[in-house]
Amino acid sequence: MSTDDLASFRTSPEAYDLLVGRYGPALAAALVERAGVAAGARVLDVGCGPGALTLALSHAVGEPALVASVDPSDGYARACRVRVPGADVRVGTAEALPFEAATFDAVFAQLVVNFMVDAAAGVAEMRRVARPGAVVAATVWDYAGQMRLLRAFWDAAIDVEGEPARALDEGRRMPFCSPGELGRLWHDAGLVEVEMGPVVVSATYRDFADLWAPLELGVAPSGAFCVSLPPARRAALRHRFAELLGSPDGPFQLQARAWAVLGRA
Ligand SMILES: C[S@@+](CC[C@H](N)C(=O)[O-])C[C@H]1O[C@@H](n2cnc3c(N)ncnc32)[C@H](O)[C@@H]1O
Repeated sequence: MSTDDLASFRTSPEAYDLLVGRYGPALAAALVERAGVAAGARVLDVGCGPGALTLALSHAVGEPALVASVDPSDGYARACRVRVPGADVRVGTAEALPFEAATFDAVFAQLVVNFMVDAAAGVAEMRRVARPGAVVAATVWDYAGQMRLLRAFWDAAIDVEGEPARALDEGRRMPFCSPGELGRLWHDAGLVEVEMGPVVVSATYRDFADLWAPLELGVAPSGAFCVSLPPARRAALRHRFAELLGSPDGPFQLQARAWAVLGRA
């Protein structure tokens, strides 16, 4: 993860919830179901952000104290503690998980692997803290394809700003956003019974202003790019972005596809 990307996740958790976080609960529910998390299991959420997956895990296992979570952003870790009181939420990174080996029955990273500084080390750590036979699972957005919000955002940015936007386009620069690359990361970490597949979720917006507002708060790489522009160019980006989404005039819905990978330690 670049230091700029990391900084973009030190913005307010509320802004995160309104941008990508809008899709988080549905994505978390799908991942928990696919992994088959059982009541009473001890589970870990790596890169928990404000806590959408931590909350879903706490419901699935039936007891927040059975859930541990880690995120390098202090603010997100605090927001996660508020959202899931009783969960063991720590500030830390995937590459150096603060847990003993073979602690968890299932280990997850939702939309995090592509932001890790050293993903091989991060996934190796996820495997280390998983008990033998435990599920180790992750999702990454299909940035280059069917994550409609971010795809349309970067396409609009490239139309308006050209090369500087192309260089920052998450569809071009994010690693592990294709099934092949993500599957290889899991195999190379020594995980077995590796399965891949798409997860499609959606979010509803009151209007285009509802979608645009969190970008103006600088959240995530897309928001960071947005606030780097002076007002007139930001307005041009807003206009083109709305056009690419069909100039919605009232409520609308967007679909977002992520790739899920599951393996066993
Ligand atoms: C797109 S957000 C996903 C947050 C949350 N999992 C969700 O689904 O809403 C990416 C998260 O990864 C965290 N992150 C970045 N680098 C990380 C690392 N090396 N180890 C663990 N988490 C990291 C960020 O702080 C941020 O909260």
